[in-house]
Amino acid sequence: MHDFESPLKPELAEILRVKQETPSIKTFTVRFLDKKKQKQFSFLPGKFMMASIFGFGEMPISISSSPYQKDSLQLTVNPVGNISRKICSLEKGSVIGLRGPFGRGYPIQKFRKKNIVFFSGGCGMASMRSAVFAVTAKKELFGKLFLFHGCKSPSELLFAEDIAKWEKEENFNVFVSVDVPSPSWKGNSGFVTDLIGKVDLPIEDTFVLMCGPQAMMNIAIEKFKGHGFKPEQLYSSLERLMHCGVGKCGHCNIGKEFVCVHGPVFSGLELEKMHLKEG
Ligand SMILES: Cc1cc2nc3c(=O)[nH]c(=O)nc-3n(C[C@H](O)[C@H](O)[C@H](O)COP(=O)(O)OP(=O)(O)OC[C@H]3O[C@@H](n4cnc5c(N)ncnc54)[C@H](O)[C@@H]3O)c2cc1C
Ligand code: FES
Repeated sequence: MHDFESPLKPELAEILRVKQETPSIKTFTVRFLDKKKQKQFSFLPGKFMMASIFGFGEMPISISSSPYQKDSLQLTVNPVGNISRKICSLEKGSVIGLRGPFGRGYPIQKFRKKNIVFFSGGCGMASMRSAVFAVTAKKELFGKLFLFHGCKSPSELLFAEDIAKWEKEENFNVFVSVDVPSPSWKGNSGFVTDLIGKVDLPIEDTFVLMCGPQAMMNIAIEKFKGHGFKPEQLYSSLERLMHCGVGKCGHCNIGKEFVCVHGPVFSGLELEKMHLKEG
């Protein structure tokens, strides 16, 4: 017998709480059944888990909770297919499989003393929420903070309570835009990418963290570059079809890069070398 733990072996985790975020998306608070595993679990925002249900399969999923939350972790699920719909049907007390954390997250240490722009769209807010928690927990170590988030409509807004708290924080400028506003919506409307250039952002000593639909990220990257940001100031998370999550199956590669191992977070410089055209 040996102590080697295969990265392909799922650990069991119990659902402690289920929160309905939007009419379809839910956030699950889960805890590993193995207390030692839970205690030792740590991750960098932007890394992902492989969540599985016996008889259904596995899906990659971002961790949406704070890396400083030690007694549990949160997964925010959009029910688009077989596994995500099955997970969304589960209730408190159900048990799922989890592998990870995998991949490369946002290099938060590198952003110390710098200004940070968090930029997300739709479900991309899941990993961005974790990054915001990581930075705001040690706010004195960073410069000015900005959050841009876009979603289809006010009812599709994820983490509305967190956003309301961040809006009240000193030195944190929050901009939410909905594609289609409701009569009661008082915020910005239109594509969130349209705000790039309209909001006065510091460019020097500033890093931009991005996560969202690929088409939206492509527009955002070009706009940030057009406003003077260098590729090395931009970090974007990519979504690709994944099976193993550990660089073995070859489902997620873009040229020589395996998104599951070398990403999902890539710098703008790396993305340029990958000649990424579309999602
Ligand atoms: C690194 C990473 C992090 C991710 N984080 C999250 C997360 O935090 N929360 C989350 O819900 N998902 C997340 N995803 C996306 C999720 O893994 C996929 O949507 C996955 O395919 C869902 O599995 P499924 O079996 O439910 O759907 P599938 O059976 O794989 O897909 C069913 C159908 O839905 C379509 N589809 C797949 N993905 C999407 C999508 N994003 N939007 C619209 N249609 C889609 C497919 O094209 C297919 O037609 C992440 C993916 C990656 C690579
Ligand atoms: S998911 Fe298998 S190599 Fe990336």
